[in-house]
Amino acid sequence: MSVFEGKHILLGVTGSIAAYKAADIASKLTQAGAEVDVVLTEHARRFVTEVTFRAITRRPVLIDLFDEPEERQIAHIHLAKRADVLLIAPATANILAKLAVGLADDLLTTLALATQAKVVIAPAMNTVMWQHPATQHNVRILEERGALFVYPAEGMLACGDVGAGKLADTPTILSAVETALAPPLRGVRLLVTAGPTEEPVDAVRHLSNPSSGKMGYAIAQEAVRQGAEVTLVTGPTLLDPPAGARVVRVRSAQQMLDACLQVYDGVDVVIAAAAVSDYRPAEVWQGKRKKGEEEWTIRLVPNPDILRTLGERKGGRILVGFAAETHELLENAQKKLLEKNLDLIVANDVSQEGTGFRADTNRVTLLWASGRQEQLPLMSKREVARHLLQAVCDLLRAAKATKGASA
Ligand code: C5P
Repeated sequence: MSVFEGKHILLGVTGSIAAYKAADIASKLTQAGAEVDVVLTEHARRFVTEVTFRAITRRPVLIDLFDEPEERQIAHIHLAKRADVLLIAPATANILAKLAVGLADDLLTTLALATQAKVVIAPAMNTVMWQHPATQHNVRILEERGALFVYPAEGMLACGDVGAGKLADTPTILSAVETALAPPLRGVRLLVTAGPTEEPVDAVRHLSNPSSGKMGYAIAQEAVRQGAEVTLVTGPTLLDPPAGARVVRVRSAQQMLDACLQVYDGVDVVIAAAAVSDYRPAEVWQGKRKKGEEEWTIRLVPNPDILRTLGERKGGRILVGFAAETHELLENAQKKLLEKNLDLIVANDVSQEGTGFRADTNRVTLLWASGRQEQLPLMSKREVARHLLQAVCDLLRAAKATKGASA
């Protein structure tokens, strides 16, 4: 049975040129067994008509706050209460701003305030409008409040510009609604490590590496979207903390290990995306060491390997690591998978353009302890996070099945 069967979806359509695509979304949801109530804003009606949606959904289409199709019900409160998901697709910059401040000046915004259903938002607009700090700020506010965004795709826009702003395709939007209805990682407690570590040399200097933390933060954010309870232990980064995750900030590898061990008992899955410094200065100079003509030799000692330490006391947990390599990628990754007692490792060739440190994209190969391998094409770190979490879901399901069979 599909997850949509018997579910009530409120589909808000706003005034974007992509409004016509909402007809396809309404149609697919209806075919999958959902009851779809479409709400059109005044501006949406300039692009599409209620006749289309009424024919597709076989239900009245709502426009006005004072429409009362069912006489004894106050429409907006009734609809808001029975909705399982409020999907707004396409969502304009204007609706994002209204939702962010909590305006209720038409039926859709009133419904959004009156509902406790999960909200899924698929924006579509001109690239400059999408990238405008005001819009991005509103997106962040709504994400922090728990809305699930289906980010716009890149492509040729109606205005002739090329860039981000195209409404995501219907399957992507439907899969986000599915995630909202049945979060795949609900009840899963996930620990993610991210970013670099800094190993102090003196009061003002440290050893570190160029890790931006983007990969680990993308994993944490995506896992929250999928219903996981996420603790993110992060080294110093310039990134905003992922909405909905518990964030523990650390500086050195030793601090990262301590923070991980503190939460380890209450964790089902660990994904170690941090680029931990392998060495630290044996002695930390007190205060700032003055500049001089003589050489300065710093003796380095190895840092603890956090993931290996966690792997030694693995229990029934799923452990996932990363292997950033410049040569013999798969061989080295395979070695780490075994040495650290992992279920899965993400091999990452950091010598290639657009992959690894600082980039927004990544090209990785997944290697399982079972010997399976999957090479993924160049994709955004958010997409890598999705693939990885899908693999984690599969591993959790397999572990549960094994446990069930042996019980
Ligand atoms: O540094 P290495 O290539 O061995 O890193 C592989 C994996 O081990 C990564 O997932 C990384 O986060 C983790 N690691 C760790 N503690 C270290 C070094 C690496 O947890 N000291």
